[in-house]
Amino acid sequence: MDFMTEHRPHLLKNRHDYLPAAGHDAFLPGYDLLTRVLGMNPAYRELVTQAGLTAGQRVVEIGCGTGNLTVRVKKACPAADIVATDPDPRALQRAQRKTKGMTGVRFERAYAQELPFDDGGFDRALSSMMLHHLDEATKAAAAAEVFRVLRPGGVLHVVDVRGDDVPQLLEKAGFDCAVVGYGRIRLAGKLTYLRATRQA
Ligand SMILES: C[S@@+](CC[C@H](N)C(=O)[O-])C[C@H]1O[C@@H](n2cnc3c(N)ncnc32)[C@H](O)[C@@H]1O
Repeated sequence: MDFMTEHRPHLLKNRHDYLPAAGHDAFLPGYDLLTRVLGMNPAYRELVTQAGLTAGQRVVEIGCGTGNLTVRVKKACPAADIVATDPDPRALQRAQRKTKGMTGVRFERAYAQELPFDDGGFDRALSSMMLHHLDEATKAAAAAEVFRVLRPGGVLHVVDVRGDDVPQLLEKAGFDCAVVGYGRIRLAGKLTYLRATRQA
C-alpha cells in the first residue's frame, strides 16, 4: 500500500505505468493480509452500505486490486452486476480466484482514466483506496471518465486516505460531491468517504 511508497522508496523500482496495490509486485501476495492488519474490512463494509446497492444495478469498480471490495459487493447484493477494473493483471488474477463461482461479476484490465465502456452505462461506481495512487492530472482524468460512464442520476462512492483535494476535483468533473463520513485505519490514519452524484 501507499505506506510502502512513503517509507520504503528504495524497494520500489516499478516497471509499470501504475502503482501496484502493495507498492511493488513482489509484495502483492501479502496485500490482503496487510489490508486486514490495517483494519480495512470495516471500511469495505461501510462503503458497500453507503452505496445502497439493489438487484439489477450495473456497478463499475475502479482500481479493484485483489477484489476485496468486489467480493463484498457480491455478498451484500448478489443480484448486482459488477465490472471490476484494474491495470494490474496480477491483482486481477487474484481477484478472479476469489470470486470463482459467483455470477454477475467480471474483471477487466483498465485504467481509471481510460475506461473501455460506453457513456452512461452504469448506475454506481466504486473506488476504494485507489485515487491516492494517481497523480493530480490522472486523478482529474479518472474523475471525468467515471462521470462519463455513469448514467445521469448515477453515483460514485469513494473511500480513500488523503482525500482533501478529491471533492473539488470531482466537482470540477461535473459531480455534486459530499463528504459522507470519516474513519481510521492503522498506519495510514484518516479515511474519507465521499458520495459524488451525476445529476439527472
Ligand atoms: C491500494 S490498492 C486498492 C485495491 C482495492 N480497491 C482495495 O481497496 O483493496 C490500489 C489499486 O489501484 C490500482 N491502480 C493504480 N493505478 C491505477 C489507475 N491508473 N487506474 C486504476 N487503478 C489503478 C492498483 O493497481 C491497485 O490495485
